[in-house]
Amino acid sequence: MAEGREAEYHSNDFRWEELREEVESDPSLRYHLSPFSAPPNSAPPPSPDAWRSFHRRHSTGKFFKERRYLLKEFPELAPSDGDSVANVLEVGCGNGSTVLPILRAKQSVVVYACDCSAEVLETAKEMIATANIGPIKHRFHPFLLEFSVNPFPNWLFCANCQKMPLANPTGFFSGANPDNMSGSTSLKGSQCCIGGVDFITLIFTLSAVPFRKMPFVIKECFSVLRPGCLLLFRDYGLYDMTMLRFPVEQRVGFREYLRSDGTLSYFFSLDILRDLFLCAGFVELELDYCCVRSVNRRSGKKMQRVWVHGKFQKPMT
Ligand SMILES: C[S@@+](CC[C@H](N)C(=O)[O-])C[C@H]1O[C@@H](n2cnc3c(N)ncnc32)[C@H](O)[C@@H]1O
Repeated sequence: MAEGREAEYHSNDFRWEELREEVESDPSLRYHLSPFSAPPNSAPPPSPDAWRSFHRRHSTGKFFKERRYLLKEFPELAPSDGDSVANVLEVGCGNGSTVLPILRAKQSVVVYACDCSAEVLETAKEMIATANIGPIKHRFHPFLLEFSVNPFPNWLFCANCQKMPLANPTGFFSGANPDNMSGSTSLKGSQCCIGGVDFITLIFTLSAVPFRKMPFVIKECFSVLRPGCLLLFRDYGLYDMTMLRFPVEQRVGFREYLRSDGTLSYFFSLDILRDLFLCAGFVELELDYCCVRSVNRRSGKKMQRVWVHGKFQKPMT
């Protein structure tokens, strides 16, 4: 049985099908399985606002936990010596838990990272600046974006770099020249363009977006990725312990729940995730449940965690 940090990465302590049988035959859990029909005129949950409040409440960075297992799951994020610079886009970066191990792994990696909360981007900058990984000015570029309703900025794409914005009211990176974090960029044609990214990381982020907006987010990820490059995915899996603990009142969609702080959580089956990514044009390289048994140190309670691990590629043509 995996415990503590070790429990966080690739593991198969139990078969997902066994858990499925257990859950689907338990009458007390039946409400998680039934189709969901939204009450008439129900407003969509305002998840980005809830996330901004969440980050305001947790601005000390106490919630920060570097995802040390990330490179074990996704070794391609640490390119071998001699590889050229790789651009990574971390979507929904929070306080930088995923950004930090990526920056730590290789000096030649540059990370662009977006989130809907200006406050958490500040926290991420602080956490990373104090993490003892050397100068990060040219390697870490946070920017503000509500990605469930807005496309990625033009400067991340090659074809559109001429249209990139010149003003930056947020104080975060808004131009194609990574030296420029203040916003007054000068346009110099394609040389100032990032030209798409080599990797996208979607780590515990897609589950925070309303289900109906997921196709938009994935389509945007597809368009900003260079041909042949990878999207690396990890998120909550169907019948994870945290899903089964939600009471019926917090159910806001099929496999979709609203936490008491207003943030959303969706739980992915492999089939649904496969459909979402293949519909956007991706090719599936890896997709599986990661099932981990761990023990709560304080209560001694056993926990059955289910995550989904995926790697998807944008085809060359
Ligand atoms: C659970 S955190 C994951 C953070 C990070 N990827 C990690 O590995 O720890 C999800 C993040 O997505 C951000 N987020 C949620 N919905 C968003 C949206 N619509 N637009 C931009 N950011 C969003 C939240 O602010 C939060 O920081």
